[in-house]
Amino acid sequence: MKKKIRLGVNIDHVATLRNARNENFPDLIRVVDLLNKNNVDLITVHLREDRRHIKDHDVQELRKKNLLPLNLEMAATDEMKEICLKTQPYSCCIVPERREELTTEGGLDVKNQLNYLGEFVQDFRNTKIKLALFIDPEIDQIEAASRIGVNVVEIHTGKYARCFNDDHEYELKRIKDAAKHCEKLGIDCHAGHGLNYENVRKIALIPNVTELNVGHFLISNSVFDGLEGTIKKFMKIINHASI
Ligand code: PXP
Repeated sequence: MKKKIRLGVNIDHVATLRNARNENFPDLIRVVDLLNKNNVDLITVHLREDRRHIKDHDVQELRKKNLLPLNLEMAATDEMKEICLKTQPYSCCIVPERREELTTEGGLDVKNQLNYLGEFVQDFRNTKIKLALFIDPEIDQIEAASRIGVNVVEIHTGKYARCFNDDHEYELKRIKDAAKHCEKLGIDCHAGHGLNYENVRKIALIPNVTELNVGHFLISNSVFDGLEGTIKKFMKIINHASI
């Protein structure tokens, strides 16, 4: 029997909605309070270079209120590192970032940035921040993460989430193989991107996936089922798969 899987909710798009009117509605803290009451395990915010949704003051306020553990998603830049070390979130997930992309489009190329990332992660060593790298489901990227001493990865499930039939099974197998390889190397394996009611079950069933990070679907589906209803239904699916 597998341990209960943790659910991290990415609240970037609550901020997107709030920013549409430049006021404080919907209020992020109120949303986190509701997520907390519905047994969500952590929240994720992506502080992007262009601050298009989450702003610096959001990160500080969420950390200060500390209603749920904060996972800070960010690019591997000096600016972000400084913010992260100052904020001391529960965890930090390093992602690639391009200004013109709509969302994180692929995993980090750890293999070809061993020196840069290897040095970047050094400053996290003597902190309590749990550091993860967001990577595609590729064995050599997991090996590279391990080589630079990072023991948590988040596997990018976006490709799996977007394809159907044979391709869907192929992508699922890549994620399963990646998760198995993480286990072999003693790496904690998280997963996320593009997950929804229909596709999450097969990911939650993978034995050593310990955490899922989900955003766009949960916030968007709240238009139909409400945030509480959406979280309850989503959790029911993953808990059935994982307990
Ligand atoms: N994990 C990472 C590293 C991401 O960049 C994102 C998107 O912000 C997610 C998970 C959540 O993806 P989605 O919004 O498609 O659920």
